Amino acid sequence: MTQRLVYLETYGCQMNEYDSELVRTILKQHSYQFVDDLSQADVVMLNTCSVRDNANRKIYNRVHQVRQLSRRPRVYVGILGCMATNFRKQLLDDHKLKIDFIAGPDSYKQLPRLIEDLCDTGEKRFDVTLSELETYSDVYPTRAEGVNAWIAIMRGCNNYCTFCVVPFTRGRERSRDPENIVEEVKRLVAAGFSQVTLLGQNVNSYRYDEYDFAALVKMVSDVPGVKRIRFTSPHPKDFPMHLLKLMAERDNICKQIHLPLQAGNSRVLDKMNRTYSKEEFLQLVDAIRKLMPSVSLTTDIIVGFPTETAEEFLDTVDVVNRVRFEAAFIFKYSERPNTLASRRFPDDVSEAEKKRRIMILNSLQDSISLSEHQKLMGTTQRVLVEKVGTKKSLTEIQTRTDGGVIVILPPGKQKPGEILDVCITDATRNVMKGEALVTTPA
Ligand code: 5AD
Ligand code: SF4
Repeated sequence: MTQRLVYLETYGCQMNEYDSELVRTILKQHSYQFVDDLSQADVVMLNTCSVRDNANRKIYNRVHQVRQLSRRPRVYVGILGCMATNFRKQLLDDHKLKIDFIAGPDSYKQLPRLIEDLCDTGEKRFDVTLSELETYSDVYPTRAEGVNAWIAIMRGCNNYCTFCVVPFTRGRERSRDPENIVEEVKRLVAAGFSQVTLLGQNVNSYRYDEYDFAALVKMVSDVPGVKRIRFTSPHPKDFPMHLLKLMAERDNICKQIHLPLQAGNSRVLDKMNRTYSKEEFLQLVDAIRKLMPSVSLTTDIIVGFPTETAEEFLDTVDVVNRVRFEAAFIFKYSERPNTLASRRFPDDVSEAEKKRRIMILNSLQDSISLSEHQKLMGTTQRVLVEKVGTKKSLTEIQTRTDGGVIVILPPGKQKPGEILDVCITDATRNVMKGEALVTTPA
């Protein structure tokens, strides 16, 4: 078989980054070789996202660019990921675009066959079937970022929040065998990773036989050598108390929770099908803080969901003021194809009003993040060394607190993967500075 050179580009969330790693692993097993230079590739794949911004135009432009940049006599262009599932027909029917193959998030094991068929026959190929079973548990990709490795523990989502396209692009919820996850964690520890981040669209829905998410986290926490465990994201509707207790008890489970609020007003939350009210969200935050007073909470918020009034938006401002999240990712509502909101609720909040709301929240959050970080000045924090070298300096040391905040240390002997105590000496809204309390022996 001719060895084909492949170039893969990834858009969107961590799950997509993880999936790209799956694709790499699968194709490498079939003797494909990956290249960093797009112009040299025989096969170019774009792993797309359609959760928020109108990814279509970006991807269309990129496909044209790929054809211009390519130095190969014939380049095959494929679309993977969320756009593949949602826009299959448009993509295949677009004669100017000339997409050669399409594979949805559950079809990556078919890629070697799709590409071979395509090369043999010259005919377009696609597979966007969504599976109720595929968890890729037999593929061990290493999606690495310094000391951290990401592990997908489940795929898909059954929640059908009315704004969200994920249940349509990624299909039904299914969980991966816990034994198999633990096996991957052991391999990662042996390969030198200090931290694992468990990944799923809604991790609290994890279920495999009698194992729930807390049981899985406990098993991962028991693997010798795992210094830190993080997970993302849980849904506020079903955060179990026993998971909170486990987090509070175990040193290697980070006291950090990404808890997507989406909106602060109960009527809007109901229309979003989030299945919790403003009061229930606040009660959950209280329960979490009672067990873990130092917990760091982050969130996602959507402004301008259909029919959200200026007054209802103030409930979101109120929750942000009361909870004081460590960080918030704030988005303007945008209509996504197939979702209930796009079919039933006209996108009736003006762009100018969405902009106004997002600016209010962003500036509020900026001041909260800054003052929360300033409160940590002079305190001792346990940090994990992530890497030597930052954007500003090749010798400074980048570390992270248990709560997920970056702390930069002056040049020293600390090595990636090391845990140490530092004193916080300076703080901005994004990062802090610190000094090691005990110097590490060389
Ligand atoms: N419009 C705006 N933001 C959205 N998100 C998901 N769907 C939409 C949409 N249609 C945001 C949510 C989610 C995050 C991943 O993206 O806040 O938590
Ligand atoms: Fe989308 Fe809601 Fe599922 Fe999250 S829980 S992926 S927002 S449908």
